[in-house]
Amino acid sequence: MSASLAVIKYGGHAMDQADLAAAFATDLAQLNQENYRTVLVHGGGPQISSLLSRLGLTSRFVNGLRVTDEKTMEAVEMVLAGTVNKSVVASLAAHNVSACGISGRDAGLLRAEIKDAQLGRVGNISQVNPSVLSCLLDHGFVPVVAPIAQGPDMQALNVNADTAAGALAGALKAEYFVLISDVPGVLSQEGKLLPSLNRHTIKTLIQEQVITGGMIPKVEACLFALAQGAGKALILDGRSPSSLLRFLKNNEPLGTLVLP
Ligand SMILES: Nc1ncnc2c1ncn2[C@@H]1O[C@H](COP(=O)(O)OP(=O)(O)O)[C@@H](O)[C@H]1O
Ligand SMILES: [Mg+2]
Repeated sequence: MSASLAVIKYGGHAMDQADLAAAFATDLAQLNQENYRTVLVHGGGPQISSLLSRLGLTSRFVNGLRVTDEKTMEAVEMVLAGTVNKSVVASLAAHNVSACGISGRDAGLLRAEIKDAQLGRVGNISQVNPSVLSCLLDHGFVPVVAPIAQGPDMQALNVNADTAAGALAGALKAEYFVLISDVPGVLSQEGKLLPSLNRHTIKTLIQEQVITGGMIPKVEACLFALAQGAGKALILDGRSPSSLLRFLKNNEPLGTLVLP
């Protein structure tokens, strides 16, 4: 049987805690020793905010998207493609996972257009060339992707990590697309975990403002990946132990499964 591919988005908040990061690396090591190939896409919102405040720059958010001027973009790329990407790679390497860190600007992986002039250097992904990922996977490496895209002017554009991950999961037609965050999954108005959602219920919950902020790009990325041919899309709690292994290997019903 050929190995199953899982594209995993690893959230800025779930990533922050050393014990969780170590547990995640252990899970990933085990999956890669078994019948899985994995691509990791990381976020880094808190780490970006921390550098921006050291630089004396402040950010405004519009619909969960950071308004990104040139100076902010420079800092975003320094953090995402620099410190965060390398620290994720190092944390995996410490668990014997041969991770290779790249950004969406490498090998034509992610191309984007300016989304909305008012948002500055925020990109709308227009083209994905996943051949560098296939190349790395075929040689046993775990690609670790920083969510930066190349704009029409060949300069960097900021893209939401969930959206970038969904585009990659779709382009690769990954068997699994998993978004790991620091919530149990998508919660109802009453704060209860919703075990599954489809396009219709998602639309309603966004209209009713039950799904807001950072959860919007997650559910939309799931729908996008599924429409492009990804197998299963899931929003999972990175704080509960070995949730990734339990879902992938034991088929445990965890988090929120998004259906087409
Ligand atoms: N219906 C919902 N269920 C769960 N979380 C939600 C919901 N609507 C909005 N959110 C928010 O989405 C956040 C997750 O997105 P985000 O902060 O961008 O995390 P990440 O760093 O993992 O991308 C949650 O912490 C929560 O505040
Ligand atoms: Mg987010």
